[in-house]
Amino acid sequence: MNNEKKWENVEEFINKKVVKPSLFLSDTLEVSQREGLPSINVQAPEGKLMSILVRSINAKRALEIGVLGGYSGLWILSGMKNGKLVGLEKSEKHARIANENFIRAGYGEDVNIIVCEALTSLNNMIKEHVQAFDFILIDADKKPYLHYFERAMELSHPGTIIYIDNMVWNGEIINSENESDDNAGIKRLYDHLEIEERVEATIIQTVGSKGYDGFAVLRVL
Ligand code: DHB
Ligand code: MG
Repeated sequence: MNNEKKWENVEEFINKKVVKPSLFLSDTLEVSQREGLPSINVQAPEGKLMSILVRSINAKRALEIGVLGGYSGLWILSGMKNGKLVGLEKSEKHARIANENFIRAGYGEDVNIIVCEALTSLNNMIKEHVQAFDFILIDADKKPYLHYFERAMELSHPGTIIYIDNMVWNGEIINSENESDDNAGIKRLYDHLEIEERVEATIIQTVGSKGYDGFAVLRVL
């Protein structure tokens, strides 16, 4: 068995034995696939981790930058008790499908998806002094990752968890010859994290159904 197939099968095994995603999560993936959304949602084990983190800090306000079909948002909501999720999504189609998925799962009242460029929405929220978020997921286009992180910091309080997807990018983050917009965007965030003193942070590498990648967990000091 090649490694990739093995990672996928092990993930399936872990999901069956331990993660046990609810039916509405599988439904959400099925609908997203049927509607032709790219299959770039987080893996179930990662989603479950977010759910556990959210529950551990008793989060009541979560922010998601990049909603896609609502899969990661549903994991976040599943961890919150009476919590609210604000989702930023620039594609109208993605937002529509996500909204349908949230409603089907019973979270229609708990989610507010703002359809707009994320940076615009983030700047607006900062200007309006909205209440800080307890948990923030950054999982959108990679080029502005540093800008998303900076805005996320402004919308945080001490103790906020900032979770950032795709921080390993198939290992390309240490490939100096890969100057694609995506890779350069992720690397700019690393260069900033090197000198960022307002958070404690780690990055975990992952393998599984989405290949080789990783995620950051940052805690605002
Ligand atoms: C891509 C984006 C993601 O957020 C992800 O988790 C995987 C891939 C992409 O743009 O290719
Ligand atoms: Mg991602």
